[in-house]
Amino acid sequence: MIPPWVLDYIMKHIVDLPAGSIVVELGTFVGGTTVHITNANSNVVIHTYDNNQFDKYVDNPMLLHMRNIYDLPLLQASDIIEIQRLHLEDYDNIVMHVDDTTNIAETDIAVALVDDNRDEASLFDVLQRLWPKMAPGGVVLGDDVDSPEIYNAFAKFAKLQNIELTIYSKCVKLVKTNNVFGNRVFEFKDTLLHKPSIQDCDKI
Ligand SMILES: C[S@@+](CC[C@H](N)C(=O)[O-])C[C@H]1O[C@@H](n2cnc3c(N)ncnc32)[C@H](O)[C@@H]1O
Repeated sequence: MIPPWVLDYIMKHIVDLPAGSIVVELGTFVGGTTVHITNANSNVVIHTYDNNQFDKYVDNPMLLHMRNIYDLPLLQASDIIEIQRLHLEDYDNIVMHVDDTTNIAETDIAVALVDDNRDEASLFDVLQRLWPKMAPGGVVLGDDVDSPEIYNAFAKFAKLQNIELTIYSKCVKLVKTNNVFGNRVFEFKDTLLHKPSIQDCDKI
């Protein structure tokens, strides 16, 4: 779950987008954040992707969590997708995709919200696929950057693109601009949990 102050930070990037802007959400779950996005700006078009693979593993933690907190021991993946539909189907500007986030088809994306709980390697792969589809100046936001896997994927991708990585609480941001560091080399230490400190920035 995205905490309210992080949701506020994300919505700041949505609220002033021109009508018709494309927003893509990677990982819909039951559509809680999708509704926040359309409430922030109902003129954007939101494509939201979730592969709904909760039944693939017997002990999927999200399904177990839902079963526990709602006392619904028989809850299935098909119920999750039905709850998602109930939450989202009345919004004309939301397009639901029951699909893997590697299959995103949209281009000229203004904002992409990456929240599909991936491991480091596959998140890095998704970022590589997503990047050419972003509009110039487009913003990629990611949740859960307090997880080393997610931090590492974003940090390594930012280094590869030679762009700035911004962190706000557990949210991470990349902006598709020209290289902000020019030819200077960002000193990234390839060890888990190493986050750049003020001293590292001084070295840039
Ligand atoms: C943290 S939840 C998303 C929460 C949602 N963005 C919100 O704020 O309410 C992660 C979701 O990503 C989905 N997911 C994980 N891997 C995926 C993949 N490869 N393709 C599509 N969806 C995926 C899961 O099914 C799960 O619903």
